[in-house]
Amino acid sequence: MRRIAFVNEKGGSCKTTLSVNVAAWLARRGKRVLLLDLDPQGQAGKSLGLYVRDLVPNVFHLMMDPACTLEQVIRPTPVPNLSVVVSNKALADFPVEAATHPDRERKLQHKLAGLSGYDYVIFDSPPSLGLLTVNVMLSTTEIVVPVNLTYFALDGCAEIVETVERVKERFEKRDLEIVLVVPTLYRATRLADEIMEKLKAHFPGRTARTAIGYNVKIDEAQSHGKTIWEYAGWSRGAQMIEALAREIERLPAVGR
Ligand SMILES: Nc1ncnc2c1ncn2[C@@H]1O[C@H](COP(=O)(O)OP(=O)(O)OP(=O)(O)O)[C@@H](O)[C@H]1O
Ligand SMILES: [Mg+2]
Repeated sequence: MRRIAFVNEKGGSCKTTLSVNVAAWLARRGKRVLLLDLDPQGQAGKSLGLYVRDLVPNVFHLMMDPACTLEQVIRPTPVPNLSVVVSNKALADFPVEAATHPDRERKLQHKLAGLSGYDYVIFDSPPSLGLLTVNVMLSTTEIVVPVNLTYFALDGCAEIVETVERVKERFEKRDLEIVLVVPTLYRATRLADEIMEKLKAHFPGRTARTAIGYNVKIDEAQSHGKTIWEYAGWSRGAQMIEALAREIERLPAVGR
C-alpha cells in the first residue's frame, strides 16, 4: 500500500487539484484508492461533488474522538474504486483542541494503523506546516510537492525540506521522503523558466518531467464538483495530469 501526500505551505499551489485527480486516475486504472482531506477548507471532498459541511463524522472526529473509527468516516465517491475521508471547517479547531494531548502529532497515524484493502492512500494537506501537516507527514511515506512557479516558490520548498528533516529526526520517521517536486501553473515566461531551472538544481532527479500548465478546464471541473476525467477527459488539462499520474505511478518504493 503506497502512501502519498501532496504538501506545500503555500496556498494555491495545486495540492488539492493534483491529489484529487491523481487519486481518481489511479482509481480509474482499477487501483483501490483512499483520499484523505486534512485541510479545513474541505476542498478535496468538494471537488468530488460532496457537500462536506453536513458530513459528520469526518476526519476531525476521526482524530479527536477515540470512539470514531475509520469505517465511520470512509465514504464512497462518484468515482468507482475511490473512497474519501472528508474534512470541513471543524478541522480548523484541531490544533487548539489537540494541543495538550501527548499524541497530538500521531493522531492520524494511530487511526490509520490498521488500514488495509487499498493500493494507494493519498493525502491532501492544508496551506501551512502546522500540526495537521505533521500528522500527515507521520502517516505517509512519500511526499509530492506541487510548486506554483512564482518568484517566492523556492522559499516554500526550502521550508518543506527543513520540516521534513525535522519530522524525520524528532519522530524517528526514517521512511519519509520528498519523492517528487511538480512545477504547476507553468507559463512559458523567462521567469517561470528560470524558477524551473532552480527547482531542478535544488531537486536533481526529483523534479517531475511533467510541468502542469494552465488549463481552464481544470478549474471548471472543480466548480462542477467533478474530476477532470469526468468533466473534460479529452482536454489538455487531463493529458497533463495523466502524464504526471503515470510518473507518480512509476516512482520507486519508499518504505513499502
Ligand atoms: N493547471 C491548472 N490550470 C488552471 N487552473 C488550475 C490549475 N491547477 C489548479 N487550478 C486552480 O487553481 C486554484 C488553486 O488550486 P488548488 O486548490 O488545487 O491549490 P491548493 O494548493 O490545494 O490550495 P490551498 O493551499 O488553498 O489548499 C483552484 O481554483 C484550481 O481550480
Ligand atoms: Mg487545497
